[in-house]
Amino acid sequence: MIITIDGPAAAGKGTLAQKLADKYNLAYFDTGMVYRAVGIDLVSNGIAPDNVAEAEKSAQNMTFSKMLELAQNPDFRSSVGGQAASKVAAMPKVREALLKMQQDFAKKPIAKDGSLIAGVVYDGRDTGTTVCPQAEVKLFVTASPEVRAMRRHKEYLQKGLPSVYEEVLAQTKERDLRDSSRAASPLKPADDAIIIDTSDMGIDEVFAKVCRIVDERL
Ligand code: CDP
Repeated sequence: MIITIDGPAAAGKGTLAQKLADKYNLAYFDTGMVYRAVGIDLVSNGIAPDNVAEAEKSAQNMTFSKMLELAQNPDFRSSVGGQAASKVAAMPKVREALLKMQQDFAKKPIAKDGSLIAGVVYDGRDTGTTVCPQAEVKLFVTASPEVRAMRRHKEYLQKGLPSVYEEVLAQTKERDLRDSSRAASPLKPADDAIIIDTSDMGIDEVFAKVCRIVDERL
């Protein structure tokens, strides 16, 4: 079974995806990591993330293990990593180069304990439209920019990272605009996606709702 969860930054996709992966024994692929990896690869080498030629080169040489290595960089999950990721993610050739790696994951998903399992939860922006259009369950999880910015702001503070709410809100809106206005695979729900607005819902409520949807499909 393949479940795709797309939506804007800090909508709660990652938490939901991990809970689903645990409950239904599926592997989890956070596809934002491939774009963060290219972004951090550039930034950590002193290259601007809007350098198209360098970003394309990095994407063409990206592997799953290199991505995991780059994920150890302290900036990988910070706003530096997020902004750099959304810049390289707007480049069509970068997306093209990173597509196969994401699709291959569904061919041989590995569980946390190393065993082979028969399904994947993907989370990202275009996993239901481009990476895995054949997925059995497609979700589009969203929330208002203010709610998402507040969630991200609290997450940064919890991790001990410096954060100012107004700046996080401005960055969230900037990233939403870049992600949804780009030419290649823009952020938008698949025609057959179920849209879930989590602005007024806690994670347990969202999880219970999605489990009912998955159980029906099963
Ligand atoms: O966790 P958050 O939603 O902030 O970020 P992420 O999921 O790690 O994604 C970082 C950036 O990568 C996004 O702003 C998108 O520009 C890009 N991305 C994408 O274009 N396509 C995907 N399938 C996943 C992420």
